[in-house]
Formats: sequence, structure tokens, C-alpha cells
Amino acid sequence: MATTTLPAKKKGVASSSIGLKMLMAGTGVIFILYVLLHMYGNLKALAGQEAFDTYAHHLRTFGEPMLPYGGLLWIVRIVLILALVGHVYAALRLIARNNAARPVKYQVKKNLGSTLASRTMRWGGLALFAFVVFHLIQFTIVKPNLYGAADAAAIKDSPYVMISAAFAMWWVLLIYVLAMVALGMHLYHGVYSASQTMGLNNTATARARARAIGAVVAAVIVVGFLIPPVYIFIDSL
Ligand code: HEM
Repeated sequence: MATTTLPAKKKGVASSSIGLKMLMAGTGVIFILYVLLHMYGNLKALAGQEAFDTYAHHLRTFGEPMLPYGGLLWIVRIVLILALVGHVYAALRLIARNNAARPVKYQVKKNLGSTLASRTMRWGGLALFAFVVFHLIQFTIVKPNLYGAADAAAIKDSPYVMISAAFAMWWVLLIYVLAMVALGMHLYHGVYSASQTMGLNNTATARARARAIGAVVAAVIVVGFLIPPVYIFIDSL
């Protein structure tokens, strides 16, 4: 009896696992570039109120008159939103695919060489998302006076006054320290994973190099981001 095997349904690279992983890696690189620029900009806070507020103002007038006021910021925001949609979409599809491939859980789950950073990508990513929502409400969208500052209007007028009031509070500093630890772990494993996707991790030396690059990127971003808040907190004591 002749048997026929139906040819596998042809699917484009976009919905293949490697396509989804490339989407994760590509959007991840966009986030890394953004956080590096944001971290560098935040360091201007060390130069004082005028330098920081002028910088925040320049971000909005950059490219005028070719761009409208705030135009560059809106371009960056749209790119970030699209990157976020792609990153989350790819993550959810890859998670669903992983679960479908192993519907029955392991009887004994042994940690065979995975790192804490790699095991916390899902929850860490979700925690980072929650942090970014809090962060945007706190510093961009609402700018509430959560700090009992005497001059609540000044918080809305001057980004420097806003961050100075915020990071004088130990609990705000704590939220940011925890968020930056989560960010560092996510970046450390993300960089490694992305180089795996790009086929760069095929020797032990290449894997060690990918881990080292991940560690350097994570350390620069975590330390760079935490310098202004820690400085402001100590200065407020
Ligand atoms: C210690 C760490 C951080 C500090 C002190 C900080 C500070 C700030 C401040 C002051 C603003 C408002 C800027 C302005 O309106 O001129 C801002 C906006 C923003 N931050 Fe952060 N940030 C930190 C970490 C992060 C991280 C880790 C991310 C992303 C993963 C992030 C994403 C954003 C975004 C998307 C905006 C909105 C920009 C806009 O559309 O106006 N920030 N941040």
C-alpha cells in the first residue's frame, strides 16, 4: 500500500523559531542603544541643574525647524513602542512554542548549567515592563509629587528638581536599584542569547566572549544609570 506524506506546510522565516529569535535580538539591540543613550544623558545630572534642564530642553528642540518641537522624542517613542510590540510578541510566541513542545513537565528539573539570568528572562522581563510603566508615570506622563516636596509645581517644570526630589527618598532609590539589577541580568543573558541566534556562539571561546560582552554591557549600563541617583541620595543626606 502506497503511503504518501503530505509536504510540511510552507511557512515564512518570520514565523519560524529562528525568525522570532531574530526579532527578539533585533528589537533587543534597539533597547540597548536606547538605554546607552539615556544613561549617558542622565549623567548630565552630575553637572547640575542648568546643564541637566538645558539638555532636557535640547532633546525637545533638536532638529527644529525641520522637525516640530518634541519631534525627535516622538520618533524615538514610536521606534521604542514598535520594538516593544515586536519583543513581547516574539517572547510570547516562543514561550507558547516551548510549552507546546513539552506539554508534560519534567519529573525532576535539574539545573544543567543554566544561569540565574537565563532562568529569570520571563519574570525579569515582566518586572522590567512594570518598572518602565511606573517610571513613565513618575517622570514623563503624570510627574506626581510622591515625595512631599514643598514646591510641587517645580517638579513639573524642572527635570532636575524632579529627580532631586525623587532620589532623596530611600524607597525610590531602592526601586531603581532593584530595577537596574533586573535590567543588568536581562541584558547579560539577552546579549548572550542574541549572539547565539546570530550563530556566533559555536566554539567555547566564542561563548566565553559572548558572556564577557554581556557582562560588560550590563555592568556599564547598571553602574552608569545608578551613579546619578546614588549621588543625589548621598548629597541629600
Ligand atoms: C536610574 C535609572 C533611570 C533614571 C534616573 C531615569 C530618568 C529619567 C528621566 C528624568 C526621564 C524624563 C526625561 C525628560 O522628560 O526630559 C526619563 C524618561 C524615560 N526613561 Fe528613564 N531613567 C532611568 C532608567 C530607565 C530605563 C532602564 C529605561 C528603559 C528600560 C528608561 C526609559 C525611559 C523612557 C522610555 C523615558 C521616556 C522618554 C520620553 O518619551 O519622554 N529609563 N527617565
